[in-house]
Amino acid sequence: MRRLLPALDHLGRSRLLRRLAVGPTAVVGVGLMAFGLLFGLGSVSSASTPVVSSNPAVIANGQSLFDVHCSSCHGIGGVGTVHAPRLIHVGAAAADFYLITGRMPLNVPGDQAMRHRPFFGKAQTQALVSYIAALPFIDHQPTVQGPGIPNILPLCKDTASATATNPNCVTLSFGQQTFALNCSQCHQIAGAGGMLAKGMVVPSLKNATMLEVAEAIRVGPRPMPGFGPGELDARQLSAVVHYVAFLHHPPSNGGLGISNFGPVAEGFVGILLGLGVLLFVARMMGTRA
Ligand code: HEC
Ligand code: HEC
Repeated sequence: MRRLLPALDHLGRSRLLRRLAVGPTAVVGVGLMAFGLLFGLGSVSSASTPVVSSNPAVIANGQSLFDVHCSSCHGIGGVGTVHAPRLIHVGAAAADFYLITGRMPLNVPGDQAMRHRPFFGKAQTQALVSYIAALPFIDHQPTVQGPGIPNILPLCKDTASATATNPNCVTLSFGQQTFALNCSQCHQIAGAGGMLAKGMVVPSLKNATMLEVAEAIRVGPRPMPGFGPGELDARQLSAVVHYVAFLHHPPSNGGLGISNFGPVAEGFVGILLGLGVLLFVARMMGTRA
């Protein structure tokens, strides 16, 4: 620092500080922006349970929405067309899942249904789901009703209740086992996603809310297989749902988690922030000569 002082006199304090600060500030700035971006992308919206209404006014509202937004592909009354499947038997879980994950309405019939920002608000979604849930009754086939909105059992609060057979609550370790047996071959054990044959994408599960996971299990958004109560009962379904929610916020063993994106992202942020500090030091040393 003593050697630096003559240099300060020579250059003028502010110019020197500016010279010292610009490069490192830019690098640290870029680092922080990348950091914020990673955190932003990692955030998860919370789940809320929809109520399927049997109120005729709500169902009528759903029918008008359906006629405008859905019937061009699914046909009036959801009877199906060459463009899109019949919806009479699909049930509330399928209708809700495809709407709250923004997969429907599809733009072009041939497109793969992908996750998007939802097109409808809460009340409109409820109206459409209620209408689709009512379709078997409107069509006089009440026996073909598809899966309803699944109920999710809570996590066990203490070790005494956390038994393998408690019908009222589930544990994370049971969820991990069930996930490993039924889901990880496609979604990877940490839910990071992957690829299937024919270039089909298996999505990461980091954006799916608890309700969406439960619905996806029962519905099986093609090409994913659906799991009925015979394959995964209410406890297995609930345990998997809690395990996927746990994957959104796994415990941190210290340091910055950086949204748990793993070593590549950590290295990236480390280099950008670390480089800023190194540049600052290099600048300090550079002005000594
Ligand atoms: C441009 C055509 C198109 C429009 C418009 C459209 N869909 Fe679809 N929909 C499809 C196709 C194609 C599929 C099959 C996609 C797949 O399986 O990946 C589908 C699948 C579905 C499914 C799942 C069916 C099942 O067997 O599990 C539901 C539920 C659904 N649509 C609801 C709706 C609703 C509600 C609307 C209106 C808000 C809508 N769709 C608008 C083309 C369309
Ligand atoms: C055969 C491979 C396969 C298996 C097994 C599988 N999935 Fe999927 N899963 C997929 C594919 C492919 C999609 C994307 C479907 C689409 O684009 O509509 C998907 C979509 C999902 C989604 C929607 C994600 C989103 O962001 O919208 C959830 C949630 C999900 N799966 C959970 C599960 C769970 C839980 C299990 C185990 C009980 C499981 N999956 C088993 C292939 C699979």
